[in-house]
Amino acid sequence: MYEEFHIGDVAIGTRALIAPMSGVSDLPFRRAAARAGARYTVTEMVAADALASGRPDVVRRAALDGKDLNVVQLVGREARWIGLGAQMAEEAGADIIDLNMGCPSREVTGVLCGAALMRNLDHAERLIDAAVSGTSRPVTLKMRLGWDETSRNAPELALRAEQAGIKAITVHARTRNQFYKGTCDWHAVKAVKAAVNLPVIVNGDIVDAASAEEALKQSGADAVMIGRGACGRPWIAAGIDHYLRTGMAAGEPALAERLRIALAHLADSIAFYGETNGVKIFRKHLAWYIEQAPWPQDVSERRAAKARLCRLTEARSVETGLQELWRQA
Ligand SMILES: Cc1cc2nc3c(=O)[nH]c(=O)nc-3n(C[C@H](O)[C@H](O)[C@H](O)COP(=O)(O)O)c2cc1C
Repeated sequence: MYEEFHIGDVAIGTRALIAPMSGVSDLPFRRAAARAGARYTVTEMVAADALASGRPDVVRRAALDGKDLNVVQLVGREARWIGLGAQMAEEAGADIIDLNMGCPSREVTGVLCGAALMRNLDHAERLIDAAVSGTSRPVTLKMRLGWDETSRNAPELALRAEQAGIKAITVHARTRNQFYKGTCDWHAVKAVKAAVNLPVIVNGDIVDAASAEEALKQSGADAVMIGRGACGRPWIAAGIDHYLRTGMAAGEPALAERLRIALAHLADSIAFYGETNGVKIFRKHLAWYIEQAPWPQDVSERRAAKARLCRLTEARSVETGLQELWRQA
């Protein structure tokens, strides 16, 4: 039976969430996902100290819509900035604040942020305390299974997090040392679910209804979170949620609908970043929309179309290029 899903006092309205992704889940992407039926998206990770100092690119990463459900993800290593970041995110309209303790990149772990916090649970707890004291909104935590195979301590961190006031846990079912390689161990998330009395969200390698169902079955989690599977397919969360509710596949959107989603995403990107940067930043999404489209069936033709459209610099030509490509389908 489909159970409604809450985080703290917030009714989430879906059990298929879209993951925070740096360089991907900016406001235009989150709007595209929302238009395609996603109820829950998260900002790119936002460095709490840079947010507090008002660095414009970081402030832009934390931008919210003012409607829908707004979730801001913070990353950092100093409790005072995490506390202030949580407060600022709430003031800006966040409904939920998420803490990043899962990012594997050397740039992040090298400064003792992200997944590096799984090697220092006392410090992780200090950051959680700071966030929970800094905001009245629910605070959630995103982590990995552990740093490496010999230290799979996600259940321990989850328990300490719960005791410190965290309201939900997301687990990317890999260790930090796996980065994005190997297959996810969804079954290992079961130990996290058993350790806490909180909603647990399973993440990693979920790309369709079948993998979502299997991940839920193996992990015993309450919801799924989808990252890369949403690139070029912002409708994926709505489709998976539909399946979890009804047992019926939602099907992929019709071609005209895909075009509408891509063009609205482009328009938002330009409104948000200005034309030059908006087109540039949209390119990776453009490439994904073309890769995910069911044509041109010939791979080299598709590659050529992608290369041609991704070279364009004006919004109007990207728009007509996309329309033209779709007309050929
Ligand atoms: C390009 C990219 C950027 C990411 N940025 C973040 C981030 O800012 N914060 C975070 O918690 N995880 C980040 N992740 C990890 C994803 O949220 C997710 O945990 C991971 O991709 C596994 O899920 P997937 O297999 O569905 O992609 C990122 C992943 C990718 C591919």
